[in-house]
Amino acid sequence: MAHEMIATEVQGAVALIRLNRPQALNALCDQLMRELGEQLLAYDADPAIGAIVLTGNEKAFAAGADIKEMQGRTYPDVLEDDFIAKWETITRIRKPVIAAVAGFALGGGCELAMMCDIILAADTAKFGQPEINLGVIPGAGGTQRLTRQVGKSKAMEMILSARFMDAAEAERANLVSRVVPAADLLDEAMKLAARIAALSPVAVAIAKLSVNRSYEVTLAEGVRFERSVFMPLFGTADQREGMAAFAEKRKPRFARR
Ligand code: CAA
Repeated sequence: MAHEMIATEVQGAVALIRLNRPQALNALCDQLMRELGEQLLAYDADPAIGAIVLTGNEKAFAAGADIKEMQGRTYPDVLEDDFIAKWETITRIRKPVIAAVAGFALGGGCELAMMCDIILAADTAKFGQPEINLGVIPGAGGTQRLTRQVGKSKAMEMILSARFMDAAEAERANLVSRVVPAADLLDEAMKLAARIAALSPVAVAIAKLSVNRSYEVTLAEGVRFERSVFMPLFGTADQREGMAAFAEKRKPRFARR
């Protein structure tokens, strides 16, 4: 698959996707988002891949949707095209997607990171939803996901005033799982992805599904859902291998299909 705006590589069972439009701070134009969606679906369908890392460059994870591309669009245009709907491919990926964020993650860039399963941040990361400066609001889930992540007051402040959050604040606010020195970001993300990719692919996919369900339903329904997906895991070879390995004091070997 030839792509111009993303660069990819595979290391073992981990796929790395780099947003690669540095001259525009990785602004998320239609072509970039199409390429990203296609590549994510391809890795999701590839049994050799166990986890995906999504990153940008030192200066920007992504500075948002492409303002110059959106500038001339009218309401009927966006109503008909619904370009943001195409961004949601990432939310349908069953394998874990780790966002490794350095520099700016603004607007759609922050929203894209929040659509990933884990955000690892470099100490240089800056998160923000500055759409209000452009006379619009976040359109790729920012008002919803940011509010669930950091709470109403901080989400309101960021969305209404366009204030950026640095990496330390993002960690305190639980927007990111942890902050690492910028020089170590990719290594840490790849190590984390490799660790996940070595585990039971079925258990990992079901764990992701179950955590994500917690965003959609009540606690009681979520707990019922968890039990309903926990029990079938006892029908898998991975459960037999994982528990046998524990009992035999050895490392489990989980097969990729
Ligand atoms: N869209 C298109 N181009 C962008 C861009 C964006 N979101 N962000 C940066 N660029 C371009 C700039 O226009 C500039 O291009 P030229 O050299 O051709 O002029 C290049 O990237 C470098 O940017 P700057 O010169 O502005 O770099 P800086 O270091 O001075 O500033 C910045 C960095 C503060 C991130 C600034 O670029 C900025 O404010 N960017 C826009 C951030 C933003 O508003 N994002 C929200 C977009 S709307 C959205 O995302 C909607 C949604 O919810 C889906």
